[in-house]
Amino acid sequence: MDRDWKRVAVFLLFVNCVNCSGTAKEWTYAGAVGQSDWAEFFPDCGGSSQSPINVDISRTVHDPTLLPVEPLGYNQPGIKPFTLFNNGQTVQMTLPRWMGVAGLPWHYSAVQLHLHWGNGVGVATGSEHTINGRSSSAELHVVHYNTELYSDMSEAKTHKDGLAVLGVLIEAGEEVNHAYSSILNYLGRIKYAGQKVDIPAFDVHKLLPDDLSRYFRYNGSLTTPPCFQSVLWTLFYERVQISHAQLMKLETVLYSSKAEAAEPSALRDNYRVTQPLNNRTVLSSFIPVSIQIYTAGEIAAIVIGSLCGCVGLAVIIRFIVRSIRTNDVAKEVKQDVALKTTSDPEKPEEVTPQPDS
Ligand SMILES: *[C@@H]1O[C@H](CO)[C@@H](O)[C@H](O)[C@H]1NC(C)=O
Ligand SMILES: *[C@@H]1O[C@H](CO)[C@@H](O)[C@H](O)[C@H]1NC(C)=O
Repeated sequence: MDRDWKRVAVFLLFVNCVNCSGTAKEWTYAGAVGQSDWAEFFPDCGGSSQSPINVDISRTVHDPTLLPVEPLGYNQPGIKPFTLFNNGQTVQMTLPRWMGVAGLPWHYSAVQLHLHWGNGVGVATGSEHTINGRSSSAELHVVHYNTELYSDMSEAKTHKDGLAVLGVLIEAGEEVNHAYSSILNYLGRIKYAGQKVDIPAFDVHKLLPDDLSRYFRYNGSLTTPPCFQSVLWTLFYERVQISHAQLMKLETVLYSSKAEAAEPSALRDNYRVTQPLNNRTVLSSFIPVSIQIYTAGEIAAIVIGSLCGCVGLAVIIRFIVRSIRTNDVAKEVKQDVALKTTSDPEKPEEVTPQPDS
């Protein structure tokens, strides 16, 4: 009943919006047409290959053919400014056409990057993907489309092999990350939905973790409506660090409402909850840590430790065996003595074995 009413309310809001503004399909993370309602208005959001997911490392499949991801032209920003845009759901930066990524089944060209984050309160939540159930504070997505098969992003995004997204988990630490400052320092200029600012071009490669060889790969979707299942995901294992102050800026500066709104609403918690894996496989480009626990030094320590343990155990076992034997011998001696005195007084005296200490 409640649900039906909600549906009607959402539908009216929806129709209303289509009529009043001409922009169909308004959605939010937690308000009207929030995450749990997405599938009613965007059927793909209810599909069986959705993103984000939790990566359970012990269930990933190591694929040794997965090459290190190779960003192309990321470190050649050019002289034209980048454009930063508050679209009411995230901060998005348009990327120049010459940037791309190699090491994937097709050639993909960069389109844009954007971020997802939490609310600055309590535990570290904000990332979309989780690893072994653990969230990070934020997540960067660099979105690419398949230039070998499609002519542009809007054509590519509806096809299964259309897009490739690089996902970077972000956590807060002590040091300022200057690459991220290139974006975060300008958020104050695009506080409200719909605002744009030109910012100096910078080396986009520096937003990525150092280790591009260890990652998880799976087939998934856009993490926002319309949730098309067209994304080949690469989620890097290494996390990137920004400072606590930088994270705070990301979590508190932006609004999801327009400047003219009477009551501005903060733009935060713009992450989707993890979706069922169903029968998808998550590949890993490396031997997961849960198996490869030991370094060479640790292995040496374990071998030496085991040897010492074995020697110790041998000493203990020898000691136990000996004391058992001693007891038995003592018993035998007693029995012998008893037998001799009762049933065989004639038998000549034997040398009774002495317990050895
Ligand atoms: C599971 O995989 C099979 C193909 O291997 C596919 O036909 C089916 O739709 C998948 N089911 C789900 C729930 O994803
Ligand atoms: C993704 O889907 C394609 C086409 O169905 C398949 O060939 C490929 O192996 C899948 N990749 C992963 C990482 O599961």
